[in-house]
Amino acid sequence: SDLYAVIGHPVSHSKSPLIHGLFARQTGENVNYIAIQAPEDGFADTARSFFRDGGCGLNVTVPFKQEAYALAERLTDRARLAGAVNTLYPDAQGMLLGDNTDGVGLVTDLCENNDAQVKAQRVLVLGAGGAVRGVLGPLLEQHPAELVIANRTLSRAQDLAKLFETYGTVSASEFSEVVGPFDLIINGTSASLAGSVPPIPSSALDANTLCYDMMYSQDTTVFNRWALGQGASRVIDGLGMLVEQAAESFFLWRHRRPETEPVIKALRSS
Ligand code: ATR
Repeated sequence: SDLYAVIGHPVSHSKSPLIHGLFARQTGENVNYIAIQAPEDGFADTARSFFRDGGCGLNVTVPFKQEAYALAERLTDRARLAGAVNTLYPDAQGMLLGDNTDGVGLVTDLCENNDAQVKAQRVLVLGAGGAVRGVLGPLLEQHPAELVIANRTLSRAQDLAKLFETYGTVSASEFSEVVGPFDLIINGTSASLAGSVPPIPSSALDANTLCYDMMYSQDTTVFNRWALGQGASRVIDGLGMLVEQAAESFFLWRHRRPETEPVIKALRSS
């Protein structure tokens, strides 16, 4: 069978082996997908030896996505724009190609799985780290009316707004200064790891606002609980995004598009 892996540190919590295992079973593809923990200072060596030993493709997770970007010999446009790579594999010429499927994963989960719209909507994105940079290109491709990036450190939001200025109407803001209501609010901060929620005014949302947390957890996430408390009628967590980015990688590697709905359901109930 063909060998694939997710590489990270830590990686034992990763759902990718389970997701790709379900994709392989569903499509009948002869794929073996494992998890590899690389030493914190050993990403490049571990990835290189994986491919030297015949590995067919890697998914890259925290904290190595930027290092994967540096390791790739070729980059897709969307990976270059994201400044990060979550999918590595040899291209037809044998060059190590870096791609990023996180942004399409988010947009597919929003627009196809949840019937949401980004086009012509007022969108607020919270955070300005690697996770947010990874999704801005595909979000802007949907042509929102406006996209505001709000971040604790304003300068990082300003840097991202500048980087993406030619892709749409993008601006930067402090959390406290955002002017709502927004149609869609996407939380891409890691604030919930500290048990907190970005301090945006409650006027940022109303009953029509869809709130999306790029994080996921078995219970409603901290951010989504806050959003519901503020009167949001619909909240979504990042489990669907996780499955959709995996499906896009699987498609790149196997040229087969797995059905994601049963996989999302299986993970949700596990
Ligand atoms: P990632 O790859 O997850 O995006 P990152 O680049 O470290 O990781 O970015 C983390 C993001 O979460 C940043 O936007 C960070 O804000 P700063 O740029 O001001 O650091 C945000 N973040 C982390 N902890 C936060 C908290 N407690 N409250 C608000 N924002 C937080």
